[in-house]
Amino acid sequence: MAQDDHSGTELAAADSSHEALAPTASPGTALISSDAFENPGFPPHRPRVTDEDPKKEKRAQRTVYTLFYLSILGSVWAVAAYMLFPIESNDVGAVRLNNMFIGLGATLALLGLGFGIVHWGKAIMDDVELADERHPIGGSPETQAAAAKVFSDSDKESGFTRRSVIRNSLIGALIAFPLPALVLFRGFAPQDQLPVELLSHTMWAKGTRLALDPSGVPIKAADVTIGSAFHIIPEGLAELEHGKLEEKAKAAVLLMRLEPSELNQAPDRESWSYDGIVAYSKICTHVGCPVALYEQHTHHLLCPCHQSQFDVANHCEVIFGPAKRPLPQLPIAVDDEGYLIAQSDFTEPVGPSFWERS
Ligand code: FES
Repeated sequence: MAQDDHSGTELAAADSSHEALAPTASPGTALISSDAFENPGFPPHRPRVTDEDPKKEKRAQRTVYTLFYLSILGSVWAVAAYMLFPIESNDVGAVRLNNMFIGLGATLALLGLGFGIVHWGKAIMDDVELADERHPIGGSPETQAAAAKVFSDSDKESGFTRRSVIRNSLIGALIAFPLPALVLFRGFAPQDQLPVELLSHTMWAKGTRLALDPSGVPIKAADVTIGSAFHIIPEGLAELEHGKLEEKAKAAVLLMRLEPSELNQAPDRESWSYDGIVAYSKICTHVGCPVALYEQHTHHLLCPCHQSQFDVANHCEVIFGPAKRPLPQLPIAVDDEGYLIAQSDFTEPVGPSFWERS
């Protein structure tokens, strides 16, 4: 091939001038090869069964369009499921059904489409082996000059640089264009309260008992053995009639017990734990996923979304990942009956750091 011949010439030239190039070539720029191997070419062409047997080709066609019809069915089912299984406020079961059936429909739609296209390509489309020769990526100086000329001509013709008032007003219009979307997104939040305000407070208050998630049964300090970890909600949350999910999304806590000697506590937080038991917000400070994995031996909490890791022994400081601040700590104590209680709400906003920027 012409390209091969051309490459061969280059290699040969490099070979013959090896001695001369050696002292002057910059590292990484010279192509010197004395043992270039020959292009083995393509292996012999093997016809597919669908190339040789018309019946098998017909069957492959049927398989492909059946997969596409299944995909259509999946898409229609996903839309139907959205209407047949609506999300009822505060009904977790309805959310699950809605997600499951929409997910099944979408899965069928995607798999049908994907498998259909792959099968079409592999079994029915023309089976030809092709090689695309590499070519220099950068344009020639002439092409680059022509491209630069197109830019400068366009600038001259449009007056983009010259007509500064028009240019600046265009830039202003482009900046203003996405603003309505921001206002519309703001409309998703409850109208009577500022989102920052809403997210700054949780159900935790002085004396609220820590309860197991999801049962809502209060937990005693004696139940928390060393090395254990519990998912916790405020007592009373499980019985809420309205806004249960919203409250849970802010107030969810992880409760862990370490050997008190392993806890590295700042002097002003020594009273926030009880005999090695500590409580931290479960809402990741990166973008708000639940931090749900606890490694008992290292005392590390892991957020599965983007792998942020927090060190429980050191105030849940971030030791890895994109989160930028520690998980907020819930100050806890024990009441007269031995139940774990909160000393107050969190002393800082939970969740993504963005919400702190009021
Ligand atoms: S949400 Fe936790 S690491 Fe991104």
